[in-house]
Amino acid sequence: MQKKPYIPFPSKMLGMKPEAELDFDVFEETPQGRIVMCYHRHDPLSKDQFNKLLRHEKKPLFVSQEDRQHLINYIGSHSGGLGEGLSLEQKSLSTQVITPFIETAFIEMLNSLPAEIRPIIEPTQAGIEACAYDIASSGTGFSLMLRLFCSHDYLVRHSFLVAALSLAALTEDKREISSQDRRAIVTGALLHDIGMLRIDEDLYAKPDLLPEEWTEMRLHPEVGQKILNLCENIPAKSLAIIAGHHAQPNGRGYGGTASEEALLVGAMDAFASLLVATPYRHKVFNAADAWFLMKEDEGHFDDYALKLINQIFVNGWKKRAA
Ligand SMILES: [Fe+2]
Ligand SMILES: [Fe+2]
Repeated sequence: MQKKPYIPFPSKMLGMKPEAELDFDVFEETPQGRIVMCYHRHDPLSKDQFNKLLRHEKKPLFVSQEDRQHLINYIGSHSGGLGEGLSLEQKSLSTQVITPFIETAFIEMLNSLPAEIRPIIEPTQAGIEACAYDIASSGTGFSLMLRLFCSHDYLVRHSFLVAALSLAALTEDKREISSQDRRAIVTGALLHDIGMLRIDEDLYAKPDLLPEEWTEMRLHPEVGQKILNLCENIPAKSLAIIAGHHAQPNGRGYGGTASEEALLVGAMDAFASLLVATPYRHKVFNAADAWFLMKEDEGHFDDYALKLINQIFVNGWKKRAA
């Protein structure tokens, strides 16, 4: 069956060699008339590279007929590629398109969790949705959210879980944190692994990476920050979290600097990966064991973040059970 042509966005880029870094997406239309694929790039691209990109297989993004129309309207009405300054109408359009993805991702994330953690996480849904809508309120942010939703299932669930754990921790945090900072932290948590979109998906599932594969993997915080630098609506604090989420208080780790917020999200990132089965490890831990393992790993995690994990997810659950 012959494929219909791809819909490049913005179409003017075809055959052009942009001077500056540009952001664009590619959607593919199937013979049934569905848009099934979405790429996101911001590198200057030659025609040869573009053709190579079109041949590269990616996981499809399935959208309903109604959403397809939204996407087409969106593509038609949004010409800049860098996409900041959308009208209210365009913003509501992008919100409508991503709403079902957000809801599905949140439910799938909840279902993947140990039962005792679910009731603590459930109340974070509205807060996380608000941050996701904020991100999608710019053209580039909208494209990135779509790209995240059509990436590896684990990456989507993991991103939502780290955001949910971070928001639950901030809710219990006794320190004064402004609502603006709270939002920036949850945004950073939701997007912390966005740089993984540029990493080969086969590496996600490999338990033992080769040295050169580790080198590639360790670039994801920096790559993520670089991608998001193009979004005007991502707060500087969120960018610092994305760059620094693998930094450690002992000065080890990799990526950007270990800011207070990056350490908090970094601890939730590690906690999240112990609570659920990952593509590279099937063994899961309950909250108490996960906390204990992290605590044993001296200097790796922030003491205050460990205290919050113990207070909310370990003792909080025991209190509920009593
Ligand atoms: Fe990461
Ligand atoms: Fe992560």
